[in-house]
Amino acid sequence: MIKIAPSILSADFSKLEEQIKLVEEGGADFIHLDVMDGHFVPNITFGAPVIKMLKKVTTVPFDVHLMIEKPDQYIKDFVDAGADIITVHQEACIHLHRTIQYIKSFGIKAGVALNPSTSIETIRYIIDEIDMVLIMTVNPGFGGQYFINQMKNKIIDLRKLINSRNLNIDIQVDGGIKLDNIKEVESYGANIFVAGSAIFNSEDIVYATRMFKSV
Ligand code: DX5
Ligand code: ZN
Repeated sequence: MIKIAPSILSADFSKLEEQIKLVEEGGADFIHLDVMDGHFVPNITFGAPVIKMLKKVTTVPFDVHLMIEKPDQYIKDFVDAGADIITVHQEACIHLHRTIQYIKSFGIKAGVALNPSTSIETIRYIIDEIDMVLIMTVNPGFGGQYFINQMKNKIIDLRKLINSRNLNIDIQVDGGIKLDNIKEVESYGANIFVAGSAIFNSEDIVYATRMFKSV
């Protein structure tokens, strides 16, 4: 069963409560929150205080994608804000194993994101500690980009690695996911799909979310 995580990066920021309620009505499995610091990625979005306020308006679990340097310094803030999953970038963590343990010490799930050029080999020896691997299918920083086709083999290889070890780890894909490619990307082995512009730039957000859920 696929899971859908609408990214509010492409939402109307003046109506966040209303827009989150629309994807909730459409059956969203997670709310994907893209936190950017202007250093790890060339863009700035929002931080823990905004997430804490948004947590009050929905019961949909919060999937927090940290595109920030030195994430350890801020993880507790995001836990306190109501994160249910925190995903850090492999490229931003010098001591990734320690960071994963730290996230899980709060009783929430830990994800690790890999930029397009980062190999799955970088997580091979610690993969059994991770709840979710996020394969970036665009270069992080912006919504509305095109799916990078070379990520097909990366998702396939990751699914093989996870299955060969009999692990129960989600594979999330983020970037360029649309109604016309989600089925194909699912066939590579991904099971959680982030969709930003494809949902929030549509005329009818509830309907768009339902369409994603029913593919
Ligand atoms: C990109 C973000 C994505 C983004 C996806 O850095 O991590 O979550 O919102 O946007 P779309 O679905 O428009 O590619
Ligand atoms: Zn994201």
